[in-house]
Amino acid sequence: MNYNKNSIRIAFLLIVITIKTVCSQPYLNPDLTINQRVDDLISRMTLEEKVGQMTQYVAFKHIQGVSGVAQLDDIENVNSDNEFYPGLKIADIKEKIKKGEIGSFLLVKGLDEANYLQKLAAESRLKIPLLIGEDAIHGHALYSGATVYPTPLALASSFNKELVKNIARATAKEMRLTGYHWTFSPNVDVAKDARWGRTGETFGEDPLLVGEMGKAMVEGYQENLKNEGVLSCLKHFIAGSQPSRGLNFTPMDASQRAMKEIWLPPYEKSIKAGAKTVMAAHHDLNGVPCHANDYLLTDILRNEWDFDGFVVSDWKDVFRLQTLHKVAENLEQAASLSVNAGLDMNMHGPGFHEYVVKNVEKGIIDLSRVDQAVKAILTSKFELGLFEKVLVDEENEKKLFDEESRDLAYKAALESMVLLENKGNILPLDTKKYKNIFITGPNANNQTLLGDWAGKQPDDNVVTILEGVRNGFKNSNVTYYECEDHRSISDEDIDKVKYKASEADVSIVVVGDNSFRTYWNSRTNGENSDRADVSLFGRQLDLVKAAHASGKPVIVILVIGKPTAIPWIKENIPGVLVAWETGAFSGTAVSDILLGKYNPSGKLPISFPRSSGQLPVFYNHRPSSYYRTYNDEETGALYGFGYGLNYSNVVFSNLSVPENIEKNKLIKINVEVKNNGYLPIDETVLLFFRDNFSSVTTPVKSLLAFQRTYLNANESKQVFFEIPYESLALLNKDMVWEVENGEFTFFIDKLNAVSRY
Ligand code: BGC
Repeated sequence: MNYNKNSIRIAFLLIVITIKTVCSQPYLNPDLTINQRVDDLISRMTLEEKVGQMTQYVAFKHIQGVSGVAQLDDIENVNSDNEFYPGLKIADIKEKIKKGEIGSFLLVKGLDEANYLQKLAAESRLKIPLLIGEDAIHGHALYSGATVYPTPLALASSFNKELVKNIARATAKEMRLTGYHWTFSPNVDVAKDARWGRTGETFGEDPLLVGEMGKAMVEGYQENLKNEGVLSCLKHFIAGSQPSRGLNFTPMDASQRAMKEIWLPPYEKSIKAGAKTVMAAHHDLNGVPCHANDYLLTDILRNEWDFDGFVVSDWKDVFRLQTLHKVAENLEQAASLSVNAGLDMNMHGPGFHEYVVKNVEKGIIDLSRVDQAVKAILTSKFELGLFEKVLVDEENEKKLFDEESRDLAYKAALESMVLLENKGNILPLDTKKYKNIFITGPNANNQTLLGDWAGKQPDDNVVTILEGVRNGFKNSNVTYYECEDHRSISDEDIDKVKYKASEADVSIVVVGDNSFRTYWNSRTNGENSDRADVSLFGRQLDLVKAAHASGKPVIVILVIGKPTAIPWIKENIPGVLVAWETGAFSGTAVSDILLGKYNPSGKLPISFPRSSGQLPVFYNHRPSSYYRTYNDEETGALYGFGYGLNYSNVVFSNLSVPENIEKNKLIKINVEVKNNGYLPIDETVLLFFRDNFSSVTTPVKSLLAFQRTYLNANESKQVFFEIPYESLALLNKDMVWEVENGEFTFFIDKLNAVSRY
């Protein structure tokens, strides 16, 4: 009885305390609007606390991992300096969290560390939760046990916006389960130079496709933000994906025309879709580093596009204004240049907090600029519901890689793969004819197929190509020869492959890239792993040639993160499949395609060059691009944008376009598509157009719209497009978008038809 009375008293007391706290600190009251809560909170913050929100740090386990101590419990006792924040001990960083001088973390290693950091933040005066960010660019892939989906370039090959949106949604869900709230994705730069190691992080060479995929990702990530969504981050603002010498960081010169026609539209579309954050790019644009570029970060983003989210720097790039670009004499000036240009949060990079505070005190940075940044950051934290619930359940890891995510990853892998060659219809493989299968190559049996920005996953969560083939070809005899990695293919390997291929009925040679950061030292591709030569790395072609020299048929599977120059393979190998880096179920998907259980439907979102000297090669070039030809190389792509074979004979007919295009009206176009095959197919219909004669030069072809349509065996369908007439606009000499009078040609597959405006 007494016990009950006491409990009631305690409960009553707690309610009174809560009501008092909420009344005295209205920002904790969920019944107020987010604006009211943000304004109240900002009014209580000191300058140091405000700048704290703009400051992001690398988390402890990562720091300690580098200096050798990796357990959270040990961190408590670690006293040594660390190479990330020289002069600071972990204990000092903990103090900073408690003083409210850090607002965000990246490189957090696991759910327990996320909770650990949040508990420290809860000890701060205002108890503002931390925003935890991560590069979850194709699934929560850096997290052990999460689902790894195909990389963005692979996904773009599916031309399936719904799929991309679903993957973003599923990624967000796994992030939130483990205490992460912000993904540094999508990359919506247009990529045209395969030497750049990060090409696979993009959606390819076409601005319309990139914009549509970016929009789909943003919508998926940010859906139901309060409970299951995460903030998206458009990057790297802007134009870093076609660096002049193929190298990350290289300066970029882009004309006003190129900016408006190519680089800005995907960002604008994704901002309009609601993207909450943007990351500035490493390089300088037309001589002004993107991190100190007010034209980009303020004029375009905020003034032109009304962006009210926040801009984060890239890794250490604020301080590279001094150390690399040499536009600031010291770090204090670097901080003021970037914040005044419109930067709101510093990713990593020591000293930022101190220098911004100093700059405000000296009147070099206006307090209103800081308030603008803090308002956007806090708004996101409230929208994410972090003030209501920030700790995650330790059991949540069990919910990762669930059935729904696995199905989605498998479907995505299937839809992303692109069939490049099928000479003599060698595929699907006739399992009666080809009983003895030999498989080899440096990508055949490891996790390189997860791509960049993925961590090592439990073996049970990944189906390698070898495993996929063994599981799929149950009645065949599958033999395997292991090549250690891409860099160490030896004469002995080559001889063995030739011999073993001659003993088999067919060989499957799995070659390509290693973008996987877990195997950092042997990488051939990925971030900061650019190449001067985009043919197959090392002696991989010799391996393919050896298998071919056996006289037996060869299938080449390309586990690649970007276009690769493979003219010899195109000429000589009957079956070639681009498997890209398609994540957890790459092996099952390859096997299903080889067996004909799935009709390949991917199409290239980026052109494959014949050789490195041709770069950049892309389909939507201006008319005079190939007026003159090389004297030592053919012109044009080896495989162009939109290319991809299947096991059906898909035939297009009756392309119908209006005779006249009317101002402000939709242009109605339709075409008949027939699947003459015995397997169903998801066919992507690509609609292109050309402005036949115009006042400025325009591309020979531009993508206008695309649509996937499911066709059963022998089925035919009408596919309808309704195109806003402004889609035909060009940027005239005065830099104004205008649809000019004249003729327009529309193209679908080999058909074309003309309309007048
Ligand atoms: C990359 C960014 C990434 C950041 C954090 C940088 O090196 O350029 O794209 O988001 O690291 O991992």
